[in-house]
Amino acid sequence: MVRFTCGVVLLGLLLTSDLGATSVAGVSMDSFGTTGDGQAVTRFTLDGPGGVRARVITYGATLTELWLPDRQGTLGDVVLGFDSLAEYEAKSPYFGCTTGRVANRIGGARFTLDGVEYPLAANDGANTLHGGRRGLDKQVWQGAPVVHEAGPAVRLTLVSPDGDEGFPGNLDLAVTYILTRDGELRLEYQATTDKATPVNLTNHSYFNLAGAGTVHGHILTLHASRYTEPDANLIPTGRLLPVAGTPLDFTRPASVGGRMGQVSIGGYDHNYVIDRADTGLVLTADLYEPASGRAMEVLTTEPGVQFYSGNFLSGLAGKAGAVYVRHAGLCLETQHYPDAVHRPEFPSIILRPGQTYRQVTVHRFSTR
Ligand code: BGC
Repeated sequence: MVRFTCGVVLLGLLLTSDLGATSVAGVSMDSFGTTGDGQAVTRFTLDGPGGVRARVITYGATLTELWLPDRQGTLGDVVLGFDSLAEYEAKSPYFGCTTGRVANRIGGARFTLDGVEYPLAANDGANTLHGGRRGLDKQVWQGAPVVHEAGPAVRLTLVSPDGDEGFPGNLDLAVTYILTRDGELRLEYQATTDKATPVNLTNHSYFNLAGAGTVHGHILTLHASRYTEPDANLIPTGRLLPVAGTPLDFTRPASVGGRMGQVSIGGYDHNYVIDRADTGLVLTADLYEPASGRAMEVLTTEPGVQFYSGNFLSGLAGKAGAVYVRHAGLCLETQHYPDAVHRPEFPSIILRPGQTYRQVTVHRFSTR
């Protein structure tokens, strides 16, 4: 069923500081403007067969565009976003970005590690969401095209300094986006630290495989038979509950909109526990949009996936005149479980000096 082949090797890295001065096949670069505090932001365009195109900017290591053919071969942009950097800075609900240092929530905006308490920013009620007020999504990364045997690629790197948003340790981060010749967008994450620290990275793309409208008619399968029970503020209670018999059950294909009204919060915002036998890359999700015929499978090495159905979108002006209404896009955020720093029974997110954090998530595209 899974036709993924491991062993992708990084063949080389071309360092560039000069816009347009590189020539990695399938990768081009241009400027995406300058941040409010004067930092230049570069955009990388990865071109694959059949017009497939991914665009990534160095602000937040963010996926801004993803063009895929429909059943007739007509290209459509299937991720939500903005036309300008100023809009990403001013009003982005985490569109397409790399989220961290700790994706999702940390209860009480603090944690204790090795006997030391670390206070964090409370930017979601009393809790910390997506790394704090100025998480990795709001920082300008370094970017360089890479020669990768699987296809055109860009590698984004960032050193998050000791104390950044309250987290300990100088954290060296790298996220590589690879548009493979097999029709996949592969994201490889890597991090090392000089002090023990929690790390939980994800990509926060909002997908709409129709390219417009809501995601109600998308058909979703999630290979997850349990979820982490959330409290009223979406902090896990610690219980892993079965999805069977609830509107959260996507173990068999079901429409995203069909049972939304039965979910107490009027949509999905749940961390699913991925069914897996080991820690390798497994098929986690299958998303299909019947009108366009576009399909996306998600494979990951992570133990969890946050299925968020864009519940907080409410008429946000986006790319090319689009207006993003409630449920205009959905996120499948592969991750470790929320609030893992307070749950020793959950898979650990603590990275220690000498260890290397590595995670891979693959988005595999096709039409049906
Ligand atoms: C969270 C939502 C949050 C959203 C922000 C998701 O990962 O689970 O609760 O509102 O990110 O856009």
